[in-house]
Amino acid sequence: MNDASPQTIYLKDYTPPAYLVETVELTFRLAPAATRVVSRISFRPNPDATTKDFVLHGSDMSLLWAKIDGAEITPSISATGLTCEVPNAPFIWEAEVEIAPDANTALEGLYMSNGMYCTQCEAEGFRRITYYPDRPDVMAVFTVRIESDLPVLLSNGNPTGSGEGWAEWHDPWPKPAYLFALVAGDLIAHTGSFTTQSGRDVALNIWVREDDIGKCAFGMDALKKSMRWDEEVYGREYDLDIFNIVAVDDFNAGAMENKGLNIFNSSAVLASPETATDSDFERIEAIIAHEYFHNWTGNRITCRDWFQLCLKEGLTVFRDQQFTGDMRGHAVKRIVDAIDLRAFQFPEDNGTLSHPVRPESFVEINNFYTATVYEKGAEVIGMLKRLVGDAAYQSALDLYFDRHDGEAATIEDWLAVFEDSTGRDLAQFKRWYQQAGTPRITVTDSFVDGTYTLHLAQETPSTPGQSVKHPFVIPVAVGLLGQNGQEVVPTTVLELTQAEQSFHFEGLSGRPLPSILRGFSAPVILKQSQTGAEQAFLLAHDTDPFNAWEAGQNLARAGLTAMILDDAKPDRAFLDALRLAIADEEKDPAYRAMLLALPSQENLAQALFDAGHTPDPDRIYASHKALREAIANHCQAILSRLYDEHQLTGPFSPDASAAGKRALTNAALRYLSLSDGPSRAQAQFDTADNMTQQLAALSALLSIDAGRDALSAFEAHWSKDRLVMNKWFALQVASAEPENAVAVTEALTQHPAFNWKNPNRFRSVVGALPRNQAGFHRADGAGYRLLADWLIRLDAMNPMVAARMTTAFQTMSRWDAGRQAHMRDALRQIATAPGLSRDTAEMVDRLLG
Ligand code: PHE
Ligand code: ZN
Repeated sequence: MNDASPQTIYLKDYTPPAYLVETVELTFRLAPAATRVVSRISFRPNPDATTKDFVLHGSDMSLLWAKIDGAEITPSISATGLTCEVPNAPFIWEAEVEIAPDANTALEGLYMSNGMYCTQCEAEGFRRITYYPDRPDVMAVFTVRIESDLPVLLSNGNPTGSGEGWAEWHDPWPKPAYLFALVAGDLIAHTGSFTTQSGRDVALNIWVREDDIGKCAFGMDALKKSMRWDEEVYGREYDLDIFNIVAVDDFNAGAMENKGLNIFNSSAVLASPETATDSDFERIEAIIAHEYFHNWTGNRITCRDWFQLCLKEGLTVFRDQQFTGDMRGHAVKRIVDAIDLRAFQFPEDNGTLSHPVRPESFVEINNFYTATVYEKGAEVIGMLKRLVGDAAYQSALDLYFDRHDGEAATIEDWLAVFEDSTGRDLAQFKRWYQQAGTPRITVTDSFVDGTYTLHLAQETPSTPGQSVKHPFVIPVAVGLLGQNGQEVVPTTVLELTQAEQSFHFEGLSGRPLPSILRGFSAPVILKQSQTGAEQAFLLAHDTDPFNAWEAGQNLARAGLTAMILDDAKPDRAFLDALRLAIADEEKDPAYRAMLLALPSQENLAQALFDAGHTPDPDRIYASHKALREAIANHCQAILSRLYDEHQLTGPFSPDASAAGKRALTNAALRYLSLSDGPSRAQAQFDTADNMTQQLAALSALLSIDAGRDALSAFEAHWSKDRLVMNKWFALQVASAEPENAVAVTEALTQHPAFNWKNPNRFRSVVGALPRNQAGFHRADGAGYRLLADWLIRLDAMNPMVAARMTTAFQTMSRWDAGRQAHMRDALRQIATAPGLSRDTAEMVDRLLG
């Protein structure tokens, strides 16, 4: 093996492993600068193998000795692994390596965070711990012994023994190495217990540092709800005696589903009313569910190779979305998911980083933990469910668990389960996994002699490496409304399979108004010409809550577009329709809060670009602000009533209904601060007993430039709480005026509490800038340069996080020539930085096209 320049890996080149592993025994002697790892691994030749080469992955470690069947050997070692001669029969590999967790700044493998040891092995971190066939189709039973003076020593599976300075764990379920985990630290547990449907007791623990013990109750509750839900809805029971969650301050992602030992970014598990917002609570509940659900979709059934990542992630996201809908209401959840898909996945799918839900090649797999794999992957499952129906979906899932439990599976296996259980041919449906890009559906219609005809035409723009696109199978949920808003045809799922297709509805007494793509039934862009009056009508009458909201957004977007392009005044029809909708006491408060949120500036830029314009971020910013002021003035009376009437009394509860009321009053507060000045927001800031209301008040004050004192008071009060301080940093960048955003970001990087080596803190300062659209896309390129400088610096420490943040440049082609040139310069500056990581190099290469 040699360590040549980065190689592209292709799905089509997959070959089975040459050797399989039965059992792995690991002994860790923990020390910050010199941890020893002794391994004893039983290998056997794989009868299905196409080669006999014995190759183990391994990097950033020194090998002290190695033996095969007890005899010392001298393998040939490279920077990425080792090879040696092995018997053509089962054999035992033993080795000892030394690694340095305290020098591990990439946060992959075994590393240290605030004096505690922890691991992150997905996707390819285990190879930094010991030599091993680090690929997901090698599944083995792990036994782990940890030796350390630290009080809490954890690994996967069940505890099998412990004593002064040591602990042993055994995980009976075969697993790939990416699900291995180890934690050692001075931690305490918030404990709980759960009785499974078959009556087994499971001990539950959330392990944290002492200061954080008051922030675990909500996470524990969410865990129990998740365990119950997976039993009730998917028939899936937990399979170990203990389930541990650990909160870690330095973590590259949100959380990780290691078998029986989930490791969480502390921001994704710790919450108390005083320190966490309602969105934090909702996000934490969803992430706890997500990681827990991986126990079946990811762990018991894992992925054959990393190209199949969406097999576990798309399905698990889909499951956590169902869960959140069940816990908190499906209408609002669907809207939130559509907003997120459009904000994160659509830009990816329509830029130089576009890739299929199942990619066909990669250089660094870390770069493919994307919105496309996760969120579009979940949409694809939602479409499949819509096409086959709920009952067939459930039988298919039962068959999936039956057939593939204990295996490393593929998308082909997944689709075969649906084909076998429903008899449906999914060859065309499979294109959702293979073709990148967001389909556009253009709608035209006609009405003749009582027959209404919808004509749908689909087209998907070409994407990097895929110039020709074939038609998708698209479930288009449609309903037809009559003159008075009554439903003349209830929701029907049309199956669009051709490039163009007509659908007829007969026997109608008058021309109906169509409500198309109800519930956002497919991840597509719908192009239909609707008048403002039709949009206002749908906002008022559509029985589908998603499309009623969508109509309001379309109406707002049309008005904003006219303001941006033609200097139009705020659209009176929109203001009237919005005022009417938010006054409707039949609609729940959370939903009305969604109605009050305008399409984001990013969304407007994308819509303008799609319509053939070159967006101007400053005009978008100014029009957005002008429309918000117009709403504030037009709706002042009703907003002030909503604000007063939805105030809560009594102790804080993070439940959906209370959170919805806070969402509505806080949306109102933002507008009221524009029309009436800072007094309400200042009063709310001064009296708030929870972070949701405190932060919303601070944000409202900052939005009218009246937040200076509140900002200092907030800092003084919360300076010791890392998670709250992340909000303090991020909010300032987010609310800075376009011309100040770069300077504000730069100033915050000089703040004594700015620790750029902590991923959360880095993301809340430098990572917050690209989300301030007009600030980041300053015409002189200063935003791009600031980001490039920081990413170069971060890349040397933590390639995974640096590479991820280069996605701020993915919309390059959308902007004017001047901005494009500045973005290109910034990317070239990153590309030529000495010692650039493979992660970031691949991203910059794809971004430069
Ligand atoms: N598998 C994790 C999840 O989706 C995400 C993750 C990937 C975490 C890589 C860390 C590193 O739940
Ligand atoms: Zn996941």
